[in-house]
This record gives sequence, structure tokens and C-alpha cells, in this order.
Amino acid sequence: MNPNLSFLLVVLVAFAYTLAYDCDTSSAKLVAARFKPHEDLYQKIDDLVKTKHLHAAYIATCVGSLTQATIRFANQSDLTTLQGPFEITSLVGTLSDVGGHHIHITVCDGAGKCQGGHFVGGLIYTTAELVIGVAPDLAFVREYVPPPDSGYEELVVKCATP
Ligand SMILES: *[C@@H]1O[C@H](CO)[C@@H](O)[C@H](O)[C@H]1NC(C)=O
Repeated sequence: MNPNLSFLLVVLVAFAYTLAYDCDTSSAKLVAARFKPHEDLYQKIDDLVKTKHLHAAYIATCVGSLTQATIRFANQSDLTTLQGPFEITSLVGTLSDVGGHHIHITVCDGAGKCQGGHFVGGLIYTTAELVIGVAPDLAFVREYVPPPDSGYEELVVKCATP
């Protein structure tokens, strides 16, 4: 066959396939785990996402406690390491083995005083119970958005390659 014609056919088939592929998110799945004292919660989440090759996931819930938490407070460039013990009262985030993770945490101390921000690391005190939701048909990737809008790599939601 004429090489130009073959190329055209390949392009047409690929295009038709892209149109036909519906990026349906109704089939979300769940993954659950319990992590133990002295483990780093961020590292365990990262390990889980990479081991299971999750391209688009999110933290459905996480409850537990930390002895320390490393957080970047809002609009700060430096990290702050807080000494606990703390209850994890909120953990939210989008997770991806291709686009990386974006996780925010709130931790509260023995006086009930709470602090929170962008989560990058934390040592588990007694336990961390984690449930992750997975969207098998999506891929979370990130693209740099310059200031003044952002200055960070921001989320772009794509259809996963079937
Ligand atoms: C964020 O921090 C920068 C640098 O310190 C500062 O110039 C800017 O005004 C802050 N933004 C807001 C909304 O406070």
C-alpha cells in the first residue's frame, strides 16, 4: 500500500477511536490500607499509588494520629515541621503516579488547637486508616501555570489511555 495512504488510515483509525472512547468515571474503585507507628504517612501514600499504578486517585478518608507533621502553610515558600502528638482531623488530596500528589492536612494537638496546610510528610503515632478512591478511566497530570495566576504545576484531568 502507498505509505502516505497507510499513514492516513492510521491517523483516521486513531481519531475515530479517540471519539468513540468515553472517559466514564462511574466505575470508581476503592483501595484501603492501615499504616503503622513510625511510618511516614506521605511516603506510604506515595508507595501505594506507585505500586498500584494509580493514574487518577483521591483520598476518600484518612483518620489517625501523627507525632510530627511537615506542612507548607498558605502562600509560604518554606516548610514547617510541627511536633505533636496530633490527631489527623482532615486529609484531602488528588493522587497520581504520573502527575504527582496534591495533599492538604489539618492536625489538632492535645489542647484542641488545629493547624493545616500543604502536606509533605508526617510520622504516624498510633495508626493511620486510609481509603483511596480510584478513577480508572482518568489520568491526573500537571502543567505549569505561571504567576500571577499560580506559579505551580496545576491539575489537568485527562482520559486514561485505554
Ligand atoms: C503571598 O506572598 C507574597 C510573598 O511574600 C506576597 O507578596 C503576596 O502579597 C502574598 N499574597 C497574598 C494574597 O497575601
